[in-house]
Amino acid sequence: MDIEHVRSRFIKHFDGTTGAVYVAPGRINLIGEHTDYNGGYVLPGAIDKGIMAEVKPNGTDMVRAYSIDMKDYVEFGLGEADAPRASWARYIFGVCREMIGCGVEVKGFNTAFAGDVPLGAGLSSSAALESVYAYALNDLFGENRLDKLQLARVGQRAEHNYCGVQCGIMDQFASLFGQKGNLVRLDCKTMDYQYMPFQPQGFRLVLLDSTAKHELASSAYNDRRRSCEAVVAAVQKRHPAVEYLRDCSMDMLDEVKADITSDDYRHAQYVIEEVQRVLDVCDALQKGDYETVGQKMYDTHHGMSRLYEASCPELDFLNDVAFDCGVTGSRTMGGGFGGCTLNLVKEELYGTFVGQAREVFAQRFGRQLKVYDVAISDGARRVD
Ligand code: GLA
Repeated sequence: MDIEHVRSRFIKHFDGTTGAVYVAPGRINLIGEHTDYNGGYVLPGAIDKGIMAEVKPNGTDMVRAYSIDMKDYVEFGLGEADAPRASWARYIFGVCREMIGCGVEVKGFNTAFAGDVPLGAGLSSSAALESVYAYALNDLFGENRLDKLQLARVGQRAEHNYCGVQCGIMDQFASLFGQKGNLVRLDCKTMDYQYMPFQPQGFRLVLLDSTAKHELASSAYNDRRRSCEAVVAAVQKRHPAVEYLRDCSMDMLDEVKADITSDDYRHAQYVIEEVQRVLDVCDALQKGDYETVGQKMYDTHHGMSRLYEASCPELDFLNDVAFDCGVTGSRTMGGGFGGCTLNLVKEELYGTFVGQAREVFAQRFGRQLKVYDVAISDGARRVD
């Protein structure tokens, strides 16, 4: 992401003046998938890819927004009736509305933005877009009155209320709280968090993007969430203290087996196991035991594929390739139903693995795999 690139387009597109420039990153998640909206733990980190936006108040009530990458321009007012059609602009509109809902006096502004976080790859390009505007509007119109957690919730609500995905808090949290060289262990029930240094000597993290896109990914995601809530409702009849699946044991789940569907049972089993895996991985990381970390990643993949049914043929294939090559850990990352696998690979195996994956993937699916190296980086900030 290059500030000169964004700035030159901002100058060209608007009145020749400059504004303030902000960035917010995408994220990876080492482990803990579909646990956030179940009150469980996650272990994400911000990455060195994200979205950069230049923003300048324009003295009107209109937002004038230019997407540099899509070469698309949208104008909207700040009232509820003005929601734009273009999906990228709905994220910005949603953030404006939610900031106003938090008492920030958002006024009209000009903005241009660009990004290098791949879209639809499970790296949270949408959270990066929400976070960059939440951060910017808080700075420009809110005297930074909202804290980072409030900004993360603004992004999450924008996604719920204007973009149709009932997401958890992980992505926005990581984009705002990220810290270079650290993963964040977040307890999504209490919102307590700790930074965990992550610099595994002798290993690299690599993402393999299957470029598979599930058309109904957001409705499948929302379905899984409903499935988890149905199980919680059944368990609560016997155990009123249970708030989330995170509070359930496998014994509790078995008690209600006859009251829920077999799909819901499997989905809940995955979540209960995944919550524990995050804790196991945190222990292993503290001991520098990357073999255990990697094993748990494979377990997550199998759970997501067979129990949660959030994988797809491309991702299962890439997971098998990793295993056959002797890669330490590999799994579907993010919401699933397409996107990337995250791989924890020994340095010396990196070249062979990536070469092999590219070759067999192209043979099997007739298209090219995309490969991304990521570094764990800082969260949202002003950069000009
Ligand atoms: C998406 C959502 C997150 C989280 C993950 C799955 O990225 O936005 O809140 O639920 O899927 O772990």
